Amino acid sequence: MKAAGERIAALTAYDVMTAKLVDAAGVDIILVGDSAATVVLGYENTLPVSLDAMVLLTAAVSRARPRALVVGDMPFMSYQASIADAVRNAGRMVKEGGAEAVKLEGGSRTVPKVEAVIGAGIPVMGHIGLTPQSVHELGGYRVQGRSDDDRRRLIDDAKALEAAGCFSIVLEALPPDLGGAITDSVSIPTIGIGAGPLCDGQVLVINDIIGYVDGRAPKFVRAYGDARSVVSDAAARFVGDVKKGDYPSDDECY
Ligand code: KIV
Repeated sequence: MKAAGERIAALTAYDVMTAKLVDAAGVDIILVGDSAATVVLGYENTLPVSLDAMVLLTAAVSRARPRALVVGDMPFMSYQASIADAVRNAGRMVKEGGAEAVKLEGGSRTVPKVEAVIGAGIPVMGHIGLTPQSVHELGGYRVQGRSDDDRRRLIDDAKALEAAGCFSIVLEALPPDLGGAITDSVSIPTIGIGAGPLCDGQVLVINDIIGYVDGRAPKFVRAYGDARSVVSDAAARFVGDVKKGDYPSDDECY
């Protein structure tokens, strides 16, 4: 698709119904992101979500049997401690979760894990720029690659991940010209999130695009729906009908 100049559309999903709907809408990649930690499980950041939880959510998405590629996100501490952990846990995402590929955060320092996972026959998507699993090291959720040194390092990281065998790389929260420079410096597709229009594809969190989140969305989010209102209106009308004795009607009884 990169060679053909066809842009790649990716969305997250964490359950079977959403996976079916985004697949039918034509997404190329469904990412079972560790963003599930915040948007599904209510944690403050992505650090606490367990591998068991990610395997469970990935399996739910895989059961939709989508046409799109299913990428399972490796959660924090499922690959950082050792190469053996990385391979064993990526294996669980594929074997139990049904993922067709996994995503690991980090540039050059993650390369040994990336190579080992690919060596086990599991395709790997890289992820550089703002890597939320390193939020404490980065000092918060900030745009990355502002200094010349950081720009050079990120371009080197992308090249290292390509050389390690990644089939694509997520670029998160980068100035648009750097998104373009990284995209031009590798032959594998880049998938941007807050990294401008020059990436080969774009990914967003499904809850953000359907307006199903608490609080303010990041600047790069475009909301295409208002699922919050759909749920709260339906729930409020149901409660009202039950309280009035309007539900169930004769037609809704056996
Ligand atoms: O966890 C996630 O959803 C992600 C993407 C948004 C890139 O990593």
